[in-house]
Amino acid sequence: MGDVRRVIIDTDPGIDDTMAVMLALASPELRVEGLTIVRGNVGVEQCARNALTILEIAGHADLPVAVGADKPLVRPYHGHGATVHGQDGLGETGLSGTRPVPDRRAVDFLISRISAAPGELTIVALGPLTNLALAVTVEPRLAHGVREVIVMGGAVATRGNATPVAEANINNDPEAARIVFHAGWPVTLVGLDVTHKVTMTPAYLQRLAAARTPVTDLLAKITPFYLGAYQRMVGIDGFYVHDPTAVAAAIRPSLFETREVYVDVVTDNERALGQTIADFRNQWKLAPNVRVCLNVDAQGILDLYLDRVAGYRVPA
Ligand code: BDR
Ligand code: CA
Repeated sequence: MGDVRRVIIDTDPGIDDTMAVMLALASPELRVEGLTIVRGNVGVEQCARNALTILEIAGHADLPVAVGADKPLVRPYHGHGATVHGQDGLGETGLSGTRPVPDRRAVDFLISRISAAPGELTIVALGPLTNLALAVTVEPRLAHGVREVIVMGGAVATRGNATPVAEANINNDPEAARIVFHAGWPVTLVGLDVTHKVTMTPAYLQRLAAARTPVTDLLAKITPFYLGAYQRMVGIDGFYVHDPTAVAAAIRPSLFETREVYVDVVTDNERALGQTIADFRNQWKLAPNVRVCLNVDAQGILDLYLDRVAGYRVPA
């Protein structure tokens, strides 16, 4: 097999974050080297507890978890993650692991791991970009030290989800997103432009659950809440596949059509807060700073997910 990508996942688990982490662990193309945690779907302590729980279920209690920001850079947190992911972030299942939340900090972890392996690590960011913005501000050399920063976030040519124009991860910390987009590292944006094209239906989830492994049993417990939220809030029988699609971009980039473009984030207008504006016609005459995913092989993502996650065997 070709080169194995070393990844750190920055995440706010989160139902689809959990699904994404499982895809990463189940894929031989990736080597997950740790999880850094950020407030997003729920508070950072609860997200960290969830990360520890899901790693334990996946047989990866060995992986480091590092705790990051519990609030956005500038403004108060105003997201509504709990309505989509449950008060506990895992669909109100009350799942809990056995390990205490470690005293390891996300910014230190990102800086030390990336600095120790220049050009080697890919960061896959599945939540608000607060941790990444802090890390690259404290250590600007990170911008030249990562292989790629893959961000689940934004909506450049489609409507938003948190607001009519903004995607939730960007909207929850727009100032951080702005720093990350302009830091000078290679950013790939896996936004609603593609994730709204990939839907997991109840029938698909049943096929996944049929594997009856510890991981698919976990997903079968937490996804009904997510399905309910989509039914209530979006009016569809199924859910859009956000965070796992971003992990898929690290595993199989050939499933995506991308374009290099200048992208900025609105931070100074309440109505448009967190909107990601892409200058497709280069009217601002600025150099591209982001590779945006504009189209995706949706069936390819669904097939990859089912194959990997249903086939995953928890290491002894
Ligand atoms: C993003 O928002 C969160 O609710 C999900 O986990 C995902 O990262 C989708 O907009
Ligand atoms: Ca997330």
